[in-house]
Amino acid sequence: MECKTTAVVSGDVNDSIDMPDLPRRQFDALIIGAGGGGLRAALQLANADASVAVVSKVFPTRSHTVAAQGGMNAALANVLPDNWHWHMFDTVKGSDYLGDQDAIEYMCRAAPTAVYELEHFGVPFSRLDNGSIYQRPFGGQSQNFGGDQAARTCAAADRTGHAILHSLYQQNIRAKTHFFDEYFAVDLLKDDQGYILGALAFNIHNGEPVIIEAKTTLLATGGAGQLFRTTTNALINTGDGMGMALRAGVPLQDMEFFQFHPTGIAGRGMLITEGARGEGGYLVNADGERLMERYAPKAKDLASRDVVSRAIATEVREGRGCGPNKDHVMLKLDHLGEDVIQKRLPGIRQTCITFVGIDPAVAPVPIFPTAHYTMGGIPTNRDGQVVMPVKDTPEEPVPGLYAAGECACVSVHGANRLGGNSLLDILVFGRAAANHIIDYLSENRYHRPIDSDSLESAVNRMQRWDRKGDGEGESVSGLRDELKMVMENHCSVFRNDEVLAEGVAKVEQIVERFKHARIDDHSAVFNTARVEALELENLLGVALATIHSARARQESRGAHSRTDYTERDDINWMRHSLYSLDTGLDYKPVRTKPISVDSFPPKARVY
Ligand code: FUM
Repeated sequence: MECKTTAVVSGDVNDSIDMPDLPRRQFDALIIGAGGGGLRAALQLANADASVAVVSKVFPTRSHTVAAQGGMNAALANVLPDNWHWHMFDTVKGSDYLGDQDAIEYMCRAAPTAVYELEHFGVPFSRLDNGSIYQRPFGGQSQNFGGDQAARTCAAADRTGHAILHSLYQQNIRAKTHFFDEYFAVDLLKDDQGYILGALAFNIHNGEPVIIEAKTTLLATGGAGQLFRTTTNALINTGDGMGMALRAGVPLQDMEFFQFHPTGIAGRGMLITEGARGEGGYLVNADGERLMERYAPKAKDLASRDVVSRAIATEVREGRGCGPNKDHVMLKLDHLGEDVIQKRLPGIRQTCITFVGIDPAVAPVPIFPTAHYTMGGIPTNRDGQVVMPVKDTPEEPVPGLYAAGECACVSVHGANRLGGNSLLDILVFGRAAANHIIDYLSENRYHRPIDSDSLESAVNRMQRWDRKGDGEGESVSGLRDELKMVMENHCSVFRNDEVLAEGVAKVEQIVERFKHARIDDHSAVFNTARVEALELENLLGVALATIHSARARQESRGAHSRTDYTERDDINWMRHSLYSLDTGLDYKPVRTKPISVDSFPPKARVY
């Protein structure tokens, strides 16, 4: 069927589709994304006898949670003294005081329970000699509100995410969660009153569409690391949920805060876990100096990630980088001994041998900061409900729509996430969202009719890419590569107005060119070319939100480091950004009041 070209990130409507022909499935809850957040929520719902469907564009155990290495934070005090309140302090400080303190308190208090639940689901955590769960030191952790280093990260060697994801998947199979494996969710569907009622998806293998009607929809699609050329993220991390939310009229929050992990393999980006420094590894520059002594005299290599990434980038900029191009520093692990490396870091040892031919038990590894984590995302409350700003009144939930994990912004990470708080976030808020959905379902027992305009818009968006390459327009894959270079060059560890303004212009130009893009014939098998085009549309929405929000924020805070505004400005900028496709930028206050304890007021952030 001939279809009109739709505008990027807008979802124009035409009347070319015969909608009654599309197959429909009905569920109480639809979950889009099968990482740890989605699967934790699905399990909670299935165990409560809700009918729950999970849509995943890859087989569920290939979701990106599988790549999480170092572990999950919880104040268990198995190795060193600890309590949730110290964890909360570290998280607020790590967030550079932009995190919402009520959500942070909620998460840190819930952390031990979340770990014990996983233990009961069968996660094979590493063990101490006394049988309790092994915990390693990670960056930004302290005892007693900024005192000595803590050891708070519960680990299964350096494959913690892998262990968690497989256990959750098996539990979901047992609980009879319905999986749409290798289906791509195109867009959210709604009624004329704004209730979200599921999504249009298609089977990647044969292109068959399906309308998944649901009383509630949870977005758990992970982050958008594919915005950048060098990234720890899998190819699947294209900000799909964020793109869908933007098109549904929901703004994205705090997108200027993108985390660059200090230790990606230089030039390639594969993750070398922070656990490597937790086990005693350290960074050296070309002069053999232990560089972190200069930037974080107390915490050194276990300062918070933004601090360590800036330190590495500064060493390179000032000419103390290693190698013929002086473009990286070295991570030294060989002093730890082969036994420690094999027992605690077997995965990264293999990664280093495979990708750079270096055994870290023998020689140092070249590393450089690499795009890792989207701190911002779809705004939610502590129950995982997606919330919209409403002028001069409290925010209002979007009925039926939830988000959890990296695609959401609750906000527990503020301007900089602490290592080990990501797995915690997905498990705590995946569960919290499911619990709220269970209550919602008890009050919303019937399916509502989907608005036909909403469905047409989603169908047209999908159909635009039915046409194979006709020799006209630029290729989707070329535009995607260009976007990643632009973001890497214009929105990286250090930014300033000149660089960001150029970046804004270039991203907007790619958005325009995408309207006339074509998919490549040679990649048009199993609908992968169509998936890549839809992914790029999502990435473009996220790129616009990221670079516009970054240019507007005239201060340095957490991972957003401006060379033209070098100080944090709590008077003018202690607020969350909100970027919407229709209305651009807006702001809302940070929730500085915790639930049950005193606030941590902003202080100078030193490690
Ligand atoms: O370094 C790591 O193992 C990554 C952990 C995280 O991002 O939380």
